[in-house]
Amino acid sequence: MNAKPNLLSGMQPSASSLHLGNYLGALVNWVNMQENFNAYYVIVDLHAITVPQDPAELRTNTRRTAAQYIAAGIDPAKSALFVQSHVPAHAELAWILNCITGFGEASRMTQFKDKSQKAGSDSASVGLFTYPILQAADILLYQPKAVPVGEDQRQHLELTRDLAERFNSRFGKTFTIPEAHIMKETAKIYDLQNPTAKMSKSAADPKGLVNIMDDDTTISKKIKSAVTDTEGSIKLDWENKPGVSNLLSIHSSLSGESIVSLEERFEGAGYGVLKGEVADVVISAIGPIRDRANELMSDQAELDRLLARGAEKAKVVANQTLAAVYDRVGFIKPE
Ligand code: AMP
Ligand code: TRP
Repeated sequence: MNAKPNLLSGMQPSASSLHLGNYLGALVNWVNMQENFNAYYVIVDLHAITVPQDPAELRTNTRRTAAQYIAAGIDPAKSALFVQSHVPAHAELAWILNCITGFGEASRMTQFKDKSQKAGSDSASVGLFTYPILQAADILLYQPKAVPVGEDQRQHLELTRDLAERFNSRFGKTFTIPEAHIMKETAKIYDLQNPTAKMSKSAADPKGLVNIMDDDTTISKKIKSAVTDTEGSIKLDWENKPGVSNLLSIHSSLSGESIVSLEERFEGAGYGVLKGEVADVVISAIGPIRDRANELMSDQAELDRLLARGAEKAKVVANQTLAAVYDRVGFIKPE
């Protein structure tokens, strides 16, 4: 019997490549956590369409996201990696949860406020408004103990716990109350061009961002043109030397060499030397992941088979939870 607790997390298929921040801040944790948990990792295409998407791009990005996760070490034999729209129970449970969520409660979600302000209040969709409730459904279907997410998802996790408790007290114990596992930012990665801002896909300058899918030459160019300072010493000082500190931190996170040891080794060296070595370290960490992801992308039938298998695994648990929910709320079973 498998006695490991369940874990669930989700990622949007909204970019053609993950960046180094996603990799070091989230993906590496997910890969490690699959050892001690029964992990469910869902690519949330239903969430993606809460803002306008080009259909062909959404299709490609969904597969590219899956390919990068597998290439980085999410093992489809250990974990269930699947696409949200392949498991209809997500949309079905979301409806039930919509009906126990207060309008005011949903209105307090800060991510909706931010995103709808950006979209303009007239063009924000109702789907964007109910986004966190669909997220609660993603989570509660799998009875997970742990949900590894970034700090920005804390409020959505609180809503999920509230909805689970409300349902349980109204209809009888049905859902496990999940714990947010806020991933610590030991490896917060900053923009190479603007090293006081987080590396983010919405960066103003694409040179600030190292993508998992970048080729070696591009990675090397981006790192060599990283903004530093004029002082000339290589040491960790986030306040006065954010660019150099970011490069040291990227090196250390990927190579495992301590910052102190790097500072010693680079004492008296120029920034060019540091950048050259950081580029090598990044290329040797990211290169094989990119190559494997490209290989997976070139055999779409195999990739789709892996995702289909993930969805089958997910459905076993999801459908069981949904059946219990339908029964508790008073729906009759179809003959
Ligand atoms: P996003 O695509 O921005 O929603 O990010 C997905 C996940 O990647 C987040 O939950 C963060 O944990 C992680 N992440 C994103 N950007 C960074 C960054 N610059 N440094 C570290 N982690 C990041
Ligand atoms: N909202 C999450 C994000 O933007 C993505 C997500 C959707 C998710 N469903 C989830 C995360 C369930 C964890 C669990 O990052």
